[in-house]
Amino acid sequence: MVSAKIFALAAMASGVFAAPKCRPSPTVPVAGATSNLSSPPPNAVLKKIAIGHGLQNYTCASPSQPSAQAAGALAVLYDVTPLYPGKAHGLERADFDALPITTLYSQDLPLNMTQSGPNVYAANAGSPWIAPADLTLGERTIKFLGHHYFDIDSIPMFDLQAAGLKASVVRNDSVAAPLNADKGPMGTGAVAWLQLKDSGKGKSVGIDYVYRVITAGGNPVSCSTGASSFSIPYTTFYWFYKFY
Ligand SMILES: *[C@@H]1O[C@H](CO)[C@@H](O)[C@H](O)[C@H]1NC(C)=O
Ligand SMILES: *[C@@H]1O[C@H](CO)[C@@H](O)[C@H](O)[C@H]1NC(C)=O
Ligand SMILES: *[C@@H]1O[C@H](CO)[C@@H](O)[C@H](O)[C@H]1NC(C)=O
Ligand SMILES: *[C@@H]1O[C@H](CO)[C@@H](O)[C@H](O)[C@H]1NC(C)=O
Repeated sequence: MVSAKIFALAAMASGVFAAPKCRPSPTVPVAGATSNLSSPPPNAVLKKIAIGHGLQNYTCASPSQPSAQAAGALAVLYDVTPLYPGKAHGLERADFDALPITTLYSQDLPLNMTQSGPNVYAANAGSPWIAPADLTLGERTIKFLGHHYFDIDSIPMFDLQAAGLKASVVRNDSVAAPLNADKGPMGTGAVAWLQLKDSGKGKSVGIDYVYRVITAGGNPVSCSTGASSFSIPYTTFYWFYKFY
């Protein structure tokens, strides 16, 4: 669907070992423009930072509907925790923050789009998932972490299968992406930044709290295009926390 490999990745290889070996204290990015998501509470411990690369799905009941209705999402997650600035293998800040955009424009959508149907979230026949594979950006290998999808009750699920962690979440807060956020390959704009909390369904394992930040793409086209359902490519960071 989207395969424009327009980004030069050489820059990513530079400065890799230049980072100081101090103890990192990752801080979730702030949107800043008109409002910020609230910071994680003091008892929240960061477990993982992931890139998500996938689709935001939408429906329109009619071409005159003012805006499309969100209808789930699916994405493959990759573990960028070791690349956080200041860690032993950390990137420069600008390179780290550019990872979602770099991924969006240099990588094919990591989903099998010949598949569709009601059981798309299940890892079985009829699933959109392809075999777990690491993400290669230039000389760098970013480990496959898991999948994001909406479960059978339409509740957002993050299955970090490579780490044995899961998050079943509901939205607590959202702020518009910054004005300079990447509008995505379809030029529709970046999806909102979110703060998600445990759904209370008892399905989470080792994660209580998730942020979606530094989004790129994913916003819907207008219903006036006439499509009743459609999908928009996006990438983002997801930050996963556990309360202690
Ligand atoms: C958001 O947080 C940043 C960094 O702390 C701050 O500079 C900015 O003023 C905040 N924005 C608002 C609207 O509070
Ligand atoms: C999202 O849309 C794609 C097609 O664009 C489809 O294959 C997939 O089943 C949909 N996923 C969900 C969760 O609706
Ligand atoms: C995609 O799905 C089709 C139909 O089930 C299957 O034949 C094909 O092997 C799948 N491709 C990948 C890369 O999994
Ligand atoms: C939920 O969002 C509100 C702001 O809308 C914030 O005050 C509150 O602390 C958030 N809850 C959690 C659990 O972070």
